[in-house]
Amino acid sequence: MGVEIKPLSSALGARISNLNLENEISNSDLIILRDAFLKYHLLCVEGLPLNSSDFARFARLFGEPQIQLLRNRWDKENPEVSILESTYKNMNDKPKDLTMVRLSGWHTDDSYFENPAKATVLQSLAIPSSGGQTRFSNTRKAFEKMPESVKLNIEGLFAIHSYDTVRANARAQKLTIDEFNETKDVEHPLVRTHEDTHLKSIYFNPNRTDRIVGMARAESDSLLDVIYAWVTREEFQYHHDWRLGDILLWDNRCLLHSVNVDYPVGEERRHQRILLKGARPA
Ligand SMILES: [Fe+2]
Repeated sequence: MGVEIKPLSSALGARISNLNLENEISNSDLIILRDAFLKYHLLCVEGLPLNSSDFARFARLFGEPQIQLLRNRWDKENPEVSILESTYKNMNDKPKDLTMVRLSGWHTDDSYFENPAKATVLQSLAIPSSGGQTRFSNTRKAFEKMPESVKLNIEGLFAIHSYDTVRANARAQKLTIDEFNETKDVEHPLVRTHEDTHLKSIYFNPNRTDRIVGMARAESDSLLDVIYAWVTREEFQYHHDWRLGDILLWDNRCLLHSVNVDYPVGEERRHQRILLKGARPA
């Protein structure tokens, strides 16, 4: 029986079954998977936790891994794999105001680079007994459903993406000097066209987009607030309940994500991640 694809929600995403990660994936299955990725923007492959080499081998089927910014997360054997530890080890790690946890903020990975990662591959290695879902929002659909007058107003605008911005609730992790030197501010179009599908999406990163080029701060803030409210509408969202070993592959060019950071203290939550190289947004 060949690989099976089932939509996960009306907003985005599809579940892949009948794919045995221990065998080599056939060319015909690979074509089906790549097409489904472009159609649904997010694929969930069921499996068991892989070692970092096997995980990297799977990710390479969809693109070339990019070395990630934060050195302290690199896997020792395979530095293109980052280990993302999100366990609250003790009570002090979990703030009362959960918006102060950086992961809870909507974002698209890597937008502070000139060439942000086109896709993220994330596998759960440990999951808590409740909470901890990753939420996704479809900014291609959000753009398509915008009133034409608003589309016309925002197409052609550029925004400045910074490693950190006062617009985000929680501050970003402190950088080493090397990391700081790699994260100069960068301008990206507010509406980008996908290189493979040629469809437009809103490219806005609430954790990193600081302001619109050529606008005063107040005017820029009110426009970004309106866009934020629009792109995070429930109709564009899918929330993923992790099972151990799930691999999610998602398209950063047309999705935002954030984490439900309300899960029990002392229960492990850990993932391994690969980012796949992308082109400069246009
Ligand atoms: Fe992320």
